[in-house]
Amino acid sequence: MQAPGNASQGLAHGGGAYDTPETADEVTRRTFMANATVAIGGIIGVVLAIPIVGSLLPARSTSQGSWSPLTSAELEQLQKATEKPVKLSFTMIYQDGYLPPEQSDEYVWGIKVDPARFQAARPDIFTGSGAAADVPFTVVNMGFVIFSPVCPHLGCRYNWSDDANRFICPCHGSQYNFEGAHLAGPAPRGLDPLPFRDQSGKAEVTWIQFQPNTPARIVISYSP
Ligand code: FES
Repeated sequence: MQAPGNASQGLAHGGGAYDTPETADEVTRRTFMANATVAIGGIIGVVLAIPIVGSLLPARSTSQGSWSPLTSAELEQLQKATEKPVKLSFTMIYQDGYLPPEQSDEYVWGIKVDPARFQAARPDIFTGSGAAADVPFTVVNMGFVIFSPVCPHLGCRYNWSDDANRFICPCHGSQYNFEGAHLAGPAPRGLDPLPFRDQSGKAEVTWIQFQPNTPARIVISYSP
């Protein structure tokens, strides 16, 4: 039987074991475990970061935007148009980066044109003023031109005025004629055309958001 004095001695001895200096092997093992933990954490961080960074980059497939179809009724309305622009409502399809495609209700303005006359009326699109003549798509298609409904000044929505026979923006008074040429007000360029095409009998339009308030047409995005 162990004497009480010996028992307390044993406990005192047990507590002292924590104060025993670590051996070189133990220090090496501890350092190795710490370094391994940091390395594994770094690898996990990189693996998680790749898809996040990727999602912030624009997808190559969306660099030219998505095509949204007009209904046959809208195309018919545009075909009947003569001297007045037609407001065309449609469901716009667009995609940002790797996010799934989205839809929203939108409208554009369509005009029926004589291509030669339209070209003469809009030198900023076809021939003129340096950087402003920068539209990388066919503007007149099937005898129509589609305009973005966004005022090139600061982005308000303009309207067609039958009385004034021109487009007028309610925000700062910029005005544009039937062909979209700038007539008055602070806007630095005429109305912005949008890509429009005939796809197996279906008319389709692509939305482009251009930089406001610059003479040049600089593409910001293909979504609203
Ligand atoms: S936003 Fe249209 S005139 Fe200013």
